[in-house]
Amino acid sequence: MKTRITELFGIEHPIIQGGMHFVGLAEMAAAVSNAGGLGIITGLTQRTPELLSKEIARCREMTDKPFGVNLTFLPSITPPDYPGYVKAIIDGGVKAVETAGNNPQKWLPALKEAGIKVIHKCTSVRHSLKAEAIGCDAVSVDGFECGGHPGEDDVPNWILLPRAAEELKIPFVASGGVANGKQLAAALCLGAEGVNMGTRFIATKEAPVHENVKQAILAASELDTRLVMRPLRNTERVLNNAAVERLLEKEKALGANLKFEDIIAEVGGVYPRIMQEGEMDAGAWSCGMVVGLIHDIPTCKDLVDGIMAEAEAIIRKRLPAFL
Ligand SMILES: Cc1cc2nc3c(=O)[nH]c(=O)nc-3n(C[C@H](O)[C@H](O)[C@H](O)COP(=O)(O)O)c2cc1C
Repeated sequence: MKTRITELFGIEHPIIQGGMHFVGLAEMAAAVSNAGGLGIITGLTQRTPELLSKEIARCREMTDKPFGVNLTFLPSITPPDYPGYVKAIIDGGVKAVETAGNNPQKWLPALKEAGIKVIHKCTSVRHSLKAEAIGCDAVSVDGFECGGHPGEDDVPNWILLPRAAEELKIPFVASGGVANGKQLAAALCLGAEGVNMGTRFIATKEAPVHENVKQAILAASELDTRLVMRPLRNTERVLNNAAVERLLEKEKALGANLKFEDIIAEVGGVYPRIMQEGEMDAGAWSCGMVVGLIHDIPTCKDLVDGIMAEAEAIIRKRLPAFL
């Protein structure tokens, strides 16, 4: 399949694996890229730019296909060494960057000069237009159903994607809620030129996470995610568990007085315990409503091939048969 997204990133299939904290290691990115999609290493999971350089080198040993790095710009009191991370990406010869969070404008000149294509993750049309205006090459349009941070507008992809298509000139992918070829075909119908998947890629053989995480995804239904941190305007969609229920109780009790410090036990530094140790109640971890559509743990290649075959069959056979 050829779209502006496959052309932009030099990939075979229009399927991107979004950055995921403590999931997007070299093994994950390489497996997706080897399957013909665009695998993405999560920059900030590496504690220092030096470690990111090593992770990029490790990924290159596992694949000769293009892969990218996610850079998430979050407001913080002591910001990470972003100039160092950007340098590690450029020096590592990476040609695709997924930015997320705050406006990436400051970093675009250096990235562009190095010939890097930038896809910015946005949860609204207005942010997507801003990304286009500042020179991003593509947008990942993240609907309300997505795992992670859906923003505060709560517009699902059924509306958000055709709205993006009305306004954007640069190509965009549908992100949030995607697990199969029906949805890839639908995304193309709605104006997207590919898909970005997070949660679905965690339940694969190569995902470098504890088996408990994969089993939790298999066991969950589309009713099992919750939105946390809404009072802080930092809404995150997570899989429900004991820690999330505790967190929601605190949100209810404290109301508008809630502060980040009140919930630090449930959200601060919990990812390694969950993803590496498999302590499933250690805290809140990002997970999309798409868990309801995940029933197996395939290899990334089988997953991507299956999605492509299903989408192509729909486009070639099911849709023409209606005419
Ligand atoms: C466990 C997990 C961790 C994530 N961490 C990040 C992150 O660090 N930075 C980021 O930009 N997006 C992050 N995301 C969001 C994904 O890149 C992607 O946009 C999202 O998962 C798409 O929705 P889906 O899960 O329904 O496919 C994360 C998602 C998950 C499930």
